Amino acid sequence: MDECKVIIMGFGAVGQGVADALFMKKELIKEKTGFEVKVVAAADSSSSAISAEGLDEKLLVDTKKNEGKLSAYPEFGSDKNGAEILDAVEYDCLIEATPTNIVDAEPALSLTFKAFEQGKDVVTSNKGHLALKFKDVVSAAEKAGVEFKYEASVGGSMPIINFVKDTLSSCDIKSINGILNGTTNYILSRMTSEGSDYEDILKESQELGIAETDPTQDVEGIDAACKTVILANSLLGIDATYSDVKVEGISKITSEAIELANKDDYLIKLISEVSPDNLQVSPRLVKKGSSYDVSGTLNMATVKTDLADEVSVIGLGAGSLETASAMLTDLISILKNKN
Ligand SMILES: NC(=O)c1ccc[n+]([C@@H]2O[C@H](COP(=O)([O-])OP(=O)(O)OC[C@H]3O[C@@H](n4cnc5c(N)ncnc54)[C@H](OP(=O)(O)O)[C@@H]3O)[C@@H](O)[C@H]2O)c1
Repeated sequence: MDECKVIIMGFGAVGQGVADALFMKKELIKEKTGFEVKVVAAADSSSSAISAEGLDEKLLVDTKKNEGKLSAYPEFGSDKNGAEILDAVEYDCLIEATPTNIVDAEPALSLTFKAFEQGKDVVTSNKGHLALKFKDVVSAAEKAGVEFKYEASVGGSMPIINFVKDTLSSCDIKSINGILNGTTNYILSRMTSEGSDYEDILKESQELGIAETDPTQDVEGIDAACKTVILANSLLGIDATYSDVKVEGISKITSEAIELANKDDYLIKLISEVSPDNLQVSPRLVKKGSSYDVSGTLNMATVKTDLADEVSVIGLGAGSLETASAMLTDLISILKNKN
């Protein structure tokens, strides 16, 4: 049996989801790919656990949850962190789930380049380096002859990037329009169903853990703009970066505007438009009952093609296991290609 040794870099919601999902899906991965996946290191912001023989996924998650840091992992806990982990143990694939940073894309950018230089494949859920330097990162992977996959960076578990590349490969993609941020969709859905004000629903969403304490990235459309850039580059071949997207969030939407739209059978949704002449995130009116009429934290995207006309996908844009599902799919695809 071949082995695939992975490093999980970033051990928050997504990194822990990957460890849980690997524990659950080991046999399935073996059956589908012929590879036994071993976690040889996992790292948070200041510590890690490292063992060339493989770590116990459940114990990694329990250690992080109970002790707060991976250095508390029995016997194999370490104070090593960041790039030095990539030199500390032999591995095949970096699973990168560190925080998205749209100022300088770090630490994801340096970690990813280092993995490429070492000839390793990378699977990421991170948007920062892709939104700022998509072309540089993808061409560095090509130059190094390694695989780089990023399905989880857009839409969490909603299939979009691999779906369009693989399943719609006979088609030219004309445009993609979609709801790419679950938090804002949740806020707008509740403002619509309850007639409540933005501030009240935002506060409740924060209490429920759906919106972050600092909700700026979501409510001002920044997160959706990052995803817009990733789709533009990866699926429409548009050489764009974050600053090319026109962005307006939902913080100025009033309950009166929603009510007015509602009377005419419309909803207000935060829509990302990805087309050769327009990269934009903005609140727009959509018809009730249309493919954009999805509520709660759901994401959706409608892909306009030349041959297949319009194809729409819907799915959960966030969540620990949900996002991990997309990362495991990427890993399985890499392993299948090795055969
Ligand atoms: N959550 C989702 O549903 C979702 C969905 C799609 C994509 N994403 C993306 O996935 C990534 C991870 O999201 P998340 O929700 O898991 O975030 P999170 O819960 O904040 O976890 C981030 C993890 O990265 C660690 N970290 C920070 N700096 C690091 C460094 N220099 N080296 C190694 N680890 C470092 C943190 O360490 P500490 O534990 O020590 O703080 C933490 O374990 C983000 O880029 C996010 O945009 C998330």
